[in-house]
Amino acid sequence: MAIKALRGMKDLLPPQSKKYIKFIQTASKIAQHFGFDYIETPLLEETALFKRSVGESSDIVGKEMYQFIDKGGNDVCLRPEGTAGIVRSFIEHKLDRQGGVHRFFYYGPMFRYERPQKGRLREFHQFGIESFGEASVYEDATIILLAKEILDHFNIPYKLKINSLGCPACLPSYRENLVSFLQNHDDICDDCKRRRKLNPIRVLDCKNEKCQEIYNDAPKLLLNLCDNCQQDFATLQEILMRENVEFEIDSNLVRGLDYYTKTAFEFVSDALGAQNAVAGGGRYDNLVEFLGGKPTPAVGFAIGIERILDLIEYDEDQRDGYYVGVMVEDALPQAFDATMQFRKRCKALLEYKPKSLKAHLKAADKMKARYAAIIGEDELSQNAIWVKDLENRAEQIIPLAKIVESPCKIME
Ligand code: HAM
Repeated sequence: MAIKALRGMKDLLPPQSKKYIKFIQTASKIAQHFGFDYIETPLLEETALFKRSVGESSDIVGKEMYQFIDKGGNDVCLRPEGTAGIVRSFIEHKLDRQGGVHRFFYYGPMFRYERPQKGRLREFHQFGIESFGEASVYEDATIILLAKEILDHFNIPYKLKINSLGCPACLPSYRENLVSFLQNHDDICDDCKRRRKLNPIRVLDCKNEKCQEIYNDAPKLLLNLCDNCQQDFATLQEILMRENVEFEIDSNLVRGLDYYTKTAFEFVSDALGAQNAVAGGGRYDNLVEFLGGKPTPAVGFAIGIERILDLIEYDEDQRDGYYVGVMVEDALPQAFDATMQFRKRCKALLEYKPKSLKAHLKAADKMKARYAAIIGEDELSQNAIWVKDLENRAEQIIPLAKIVESPCKIME
């Protein structure tokens, strides 16, 4: 029997792969406009990194890791998310000791052993950004606006939800109140009982309806914030309003990873069905120190690329580049040379087989080329190439020596 890809893992082929590249190029450009630089970290890391950062109470670490012992006896796993590896790298390269602000963007595959369904894969791709060293809530607003800019560029419909998870000054007392509340409720689900012990605030985003009914009466996180967290959360809202970003406050938004403090946010989209989270992120001011670095405030987000790929428009009919052909075999070296010249400026494909002009124009049209560039006997004797703009039908003969000057703009 033929071997197939693993469950929950997908091949990426054209035309979807064209959308993927377009997304990465655009998102990278936008991130660069915001002052972020590219970073790449390994797909495989020590398991302990994710246990410590994403947290043992999270589903990701508790149930979904691709974990194994390598040939050297190391306990490793495929990264389920990007933040932990980047924090590890940030500390390992001593950037925490340099001070200042360090801003990174990244993209690539992440692995979670989840139950596959529409929008939920075991290997999926994220585009993410992480900012280190800036405690100002303006940075939180900036990265929310960065995510919004990317989604807006591709006309992805979304709703933005925000929350504040508090800080070491206010979270512990809230946690105590919540635990006392939970202690009186043994009717919560088994997952919540586990969370009650490990990370009680994670109960708040339990998907079980009965639990949610119970938590309606639970102490509210937002009513327990310290002055500083309250002030920052108010400022964040002011900035978003000033920038005309619509949002809703969701006091149960606690995110599925344990490292968050203060701002937490998610972009959700009704266009997606059950797996409606397009992007998520927030502040994680304690994580660098927790993983052994100097205390460094940090904030970031990640977009799930597969979730939005279907919503990205890609104009398959848009004409692009050159189709190059010959009508006589002898012209192939010149046509080959011309194609190489075109390729310095734009896409160009060469048909090696000599064909009639009609057959070439048909093939050029089929491949959606913008220009057909053909060398027949006449052009060969003149050392030139005949070029037709397939959009406005204009034709001209261009000396081969001139192609290098302006090949792709020639007809515009
Ligand atoms: P996350 O919310 O776990 O956050 O993932 C971010 C996004 O990845 C989700 O909103 C979703 O679009 C996509 N995603 C997650 N799981 C899957 C899956 N199984 N299949 C398809 N798409 C999926 C993080 O990973 C954090 N590291 C984000 C962050 C960066 N926070 C601070 N900095």
